[in-house]
Amino acid sequence: MSSKVFFDVGLSLDGYMAGPNARPGNPLGDGGPAMHGWVFETASFRELFGIPGGDSSSADDALIRRLFSRTGAYVMGRRMFDEGEVGWPENPPFRAPVYVLTHSPREPWVRQGGTTFHFVTDGIESALAQAKAAAGDKDVRISGGADTIRQYIQAGLIDECTVHVTPALLGAGLRLLDQLVPEELKLETVSAISSKLVTHLDYRFTA
Ligand SMILES: NC(=O)c1ccc[n+]([C@@H]2O[C@H](COP(=O)([O-])OP(=O)(O)OC[C@H]3O[C@@H](n4cnc5c(N)ncnc54)[C@H](OP(=O)(O)O)[C@@H]3O)[C@@H](O)[C@H]2O)c1
Repeated sequence: MSSKVFFDVGLSLDGYMAGPNARPGNPLGDGGPAMHGWVFETASFRELFGIPGGDSSSADDALIRRLFSRTGAYVMGRRMFDEGEVGWPENPPFRAPVYVLTHSPREPWVRQGGTTFHFVTDGIESALAQAKAAAGDKDVRISGGADTIRQYIQAGLIDECTVHVTPALLGAGLRLLDQLVPEELKLETVSAISSKLVTHLDYRFTA
């Protein structure tokens, strides 16, 4: 099976990917971490952060485990990186190369556990080509944020996506799908799985 390009994001019930005032020190914005509450209930995500406990038998846990094991490289925007730079541990959860889109050149930032952040200043195609080469047979995750994912959707470079909808109301903030026109987002539903905390919606992009 050939390698896929996908994104996988949390959304509030009112469609936000981050609350207002997102910045380094306030990742995901005001109220935004509520969208990821289910993630921290899983043993597999806690394991990546060196936190004991969590449920290892839930569908949510299996999903997180598969998400990280299928991914061989990541692409993200500089605003997402800026939040993570001050928040991720010395051994960040990626354990793979991460290509950060930016207009500010910077030397690679090598972290523990196999995560190296590479700063890419020559556009989305270049970042994706580097990520695909690094990922080999594994998939490439376009991590976010909204601006970055939108550019890959508009360029027709995404194969699949998952959105995790939580019953949280953010009221304002950053929307994923603003500025897209219907012709740019042609999806078919692959599956929908729910737990008490979250509904996982899987889609495939069609031509
Ligand atoms: N809900 C979720 O699951 C989830 C997942 C990921 C992120 N987020 C949230 O999303 C927010 C960030 O998203 P965002 O849409 O504001 O920003 P973003 O996509 O993370 O980053 C945008 C920045 O990336 C750089 N960039 C983007 N495209 C580029 C290109 N083609 N060439 C060169 N540089 C490029 C630019 O930085 P320069 O200033 O260097 O030009 C641009 O300002 C954060 O609050 C984060 O917490 C949420």
